[in-house]
Amino acid sequence: MKAPLHSEFNNCNPRLLHGADYNPEQWNLATSILDEDFESMRLAGITSVSIGIFSWTLYEPQEGVFQFEWMDQLMDRLASEGVMAFLGTVSGSKPMWMSAKYPEIRRVNKDGVLEQSGLRHNHCPSSKFYREKVALINEQLAVRYKNHPALAMWHVGNELQGECYCKHCLTRFHEWLEQRYQSLERLNEAWWTRFWNHTFTEWHQIDPRDSSIDGLIIDWKRFNNDLHVEFLENEIAPLKKHTPSIPITTNFMCFHPDLDYWRWSKVLDVVTNDSYPSYDGAPDMWRSAASTSLTHDLMRGLGKGKPWMQIECSPSAINWKPINKLKPRGMHMAESAQVIAHGGNGVHYFQFRKSRGGAEKFHGAILDHDSRNDTRIFKEVAQVGSWLASCNDLAASTSPRAEVAIIHDWESQWALNSSQGIRQPVPKGIETHPEDAYHELLKEHHRGWWQASVATDIICPDPKTLEVDLRGRKVVLAPALYMLPETVAKILIDFVEAGGCLILSHLSGVVDECNRVLRDGLPGQGLCKIAGAKVEEIDALFEKESRRIETSGILKKLEGNYQITHSYGLLHLEGAQSVVTLTEGHWAGSSIASHCKFGKGHVFQLAANFCDAFHKDFVRYLVQELSLECVVATPMPTGVHATVRINENKKYQFLINYSDQKQTIRLESSEGNQKSIELKPYEVHLERLEIGLKAISKKEVILT
Ligand code: GLA
Ligand code: ZN
Repeated sequence: MKAPLHSEFNNCNPRLLHGADYNPEQWNLATSILDEDFESMRLAGITSVSIGIFSWTLYEPQEGVFQFEWMDQLMDRLASEGVMAFLGTVSGSKPMWMSAKYPEIRRVNKDGVLEQSGLRHNHCPSSKFYREKVALINEQLAVRYKNHPALAMWHVGNELQGECYCKHCLTRFHEWLEQRYQSLERLNEAWWTRFWNHTFTEWHQIDPRDSSIDGLIIDWKRFNNDLHVEFLENEIAPLKKHTPSIPITTNFMCFHPDLDYWRWSKVLDVVTNDSYPSYDGAPDMWRSAASTSLTHDLMRGLGKGKPWMQIECSPSAINWKPINKLKPRGMHMAESAQVIAHGGNGVHYFQFRKSRGGAEKFHGAILDHDSRNDTRIFKEVAQVGSWLASCNDLAASTSPRAEVAIIHDWESQWALNSSQGIRQPVPKGIETHPEDAYHELLKEHHRGWWQASVATDIICPDPKTLEVDLRGRKVVLAPALYMLPETVAKILIDFVEAGGCLILSHLSGVVDECNRVLRDGLPGQGLCKIAGAKVEEIDALFEKESRRIETSGILKKLEGNYQITHSYGLLHLEGAQSVVTLTEGHWAGSSIASHCKFGKGHVFQLAANFCDAFHKDFVRYLVQELSLECVVATPMPTGVHATVRINENKKYQFLINYSDQKQTIRLESSEGNQKSIELKPYEVHLERLEIGLKAISKKEVILT
């Protein structure tokens, strides 16, 4: 058996991981299946598998009757094959017998109906009984496998999520509120309940289903996150007690709209994520690639810069979108390399072998129903496996701290999406998660930096950590920081005063922690003073509408054919210079973007949803003005993105072509040597550069 996995994450013996969810128990652990699987695992370069996630009933077929022999057999086989086990805890799916016998572990839906047994991810998160049962089986797993050589990581539950409206959860919510507000007077004030006669006179009157109380909406989400984190802590306690050196993870779901992973990641050792982007080869697929990079940056940020992992992705098609397209040939390598390029140390799939039945029998897998390992997909997976194995020297490197930080805040997202009127969230089909106004704006800003290959870190607006997170940053983006506590505003003001560049939008600094509108103008909490401009009114556009704009002042030299969509703020300038004005529509001539110097720094207020071309040129302008580091100089061809990882003596430079076109990039070294790099569609180019030689600098790329 190779060194245990926990050493990999502790940087003792690091390597890049390649694995999958693995469920041979669906085939009763038949020897013929296991033999086929392990042979194919060897060929695919599989280092690790997540096992046992949905197998509670196999461990405990009747209450209190445990059988672990099947897992002993699997763990032993894994150890003898040199494959590491991410051992699942089983809370993601309740045994049928348990749901039937103890209905209180089932969820109650919004209509007050007790949910059926079955499906998954649907336990009552506050059920004491369920927590006890989970802790008990976790204890048994931990005791049994604590010295097992295959045990490398705990995979706690699966995609923990959801809300329950049972009596117990509602009572816990009322207690949680009482603790937070101490009195109903304070709660009524915080929630502005005199509006529509919603004043509460007893705690039990509070019903989280009242969608008209926007302060309540935020607190209900905060409360549910606390319940999930408590649930995780309950799962983790026995694991930590018996296996203190085995790292613990649970699989995240990108920018999940309800789950505040900033809180969750504090109780985990390793951040891991499930990622299913639309990588179907469409001409604008680069936007999905940019959005996936943003998610990867978030995962790195959640782990405070430590290596993270992609614990699920599909080797081929998935089965849950309305139309499930294959990934084009070669795309799988690009998708995998993208993880490593953004500081991830492993790529796992859902799933090793396709189920024969059940809801996911047509979900992509490494092995199809016929078990063949001469398929296109298998070969592409094996190619990724051998590429990862050849890149183990990267495992001890990290993504360098970026000069540009983007603040991401789940509470702002909740608050914005619960506030009627500014512009309603726009659901846009099924991406990884539904789009909304918050993400629309965040992604637009991020795409500008992505197109210029300027690295971005995603940071949390927690006032306890923000000051440290801002150290060394040159640019901070807070375009959708809709909820702005005074403490956070103060840190941002200090950042600008000390020389930083802050970028805001028309949706920054609108409400306080209770979702009440700030009163000193927009952006509030003093930000409009340093911005030298207020957003006086916000106009919304229909889905297909746009407005042309022109630049002025310090942005005069940006000369594209730019436009805005969705919504925009009309600025009232109070010391700032206008840098963009509308040129069409009723409000033509109005300023919608401003620049203001404050202290030693700058504030840009980009008060609209600007097009990609504008963001790209704006970023190029900032790169020059602020001498920001680019991995390679702009402009990159559309769809090509560059990132770096570093260790003490090497810089690992990735160029990935996410477009279906061949792209040629000419690089010039600081010594003046030129070379061309030709990237085929979806090709990955990785270069190892000695640090110190400064082989690539920002003026050294010329496109042909
Ligand atoms: C999620 C789950 C997996 C599987 C995949 C399918 O990520 O964690 O169990 O259902 O989706 O895409
Ligand atoms: Zn409940």
